[in-house]
Amino acid sequence: MAEYLKWKDTLEIGDDANDAAHRLMLQLANTFMDKLAQGQSEKILHGILEHLIDISKEHFRAEEISLKKQLDHDSFAHHRSEHIRLIDEMRMLDNGFAASKLGVEDVLPFFKEWIFDHIEKLDMKTDGPNKSDT
Ligand SMILES: [Fe+2]
Ligand SMILES: [Fe+2]
Repeated sequence: MAEYLKWKDTLEIGDDANDAAHRLMLQLANTFMDKLAQGQSEKILHGILEHLIDISKEHFRAEEISLKKQLDHDSFAHHRSEHIRLIDEMRMLDNGFAASKLGVEDVLPFFKEWIFDHIEKLDMKTDGPNKSDT
């Protein structure tokens, strides 16, 4: 399978559950792009995105439980609103990719922003096992 998004050290938070969830999200994004490039049916592609949305929602929920204990009100509200935006965007992609005839080159930047930026800019600051002590 083509590895459009490659896991890298800068994504490693150091918390096993969160790292595993992030890796799974990245893997599903790769699977989606791979099947998209192969011209697989809309049904298969929708199924992958639904799975990605489900595991992302589950991960965000778990993450928010620990974030709530670590962050002040504003930072928590901001992080949570980013999770909501990410799910909304994924739903828009799910509803629109077929009609818009999107290809891998269109969705790759989206997934990069969606997965890499969020983890590196927000999760990284707060999710580490030792971060709650600081
Ligand atoms: Fe997050
Ligand atoms: Fe996360």
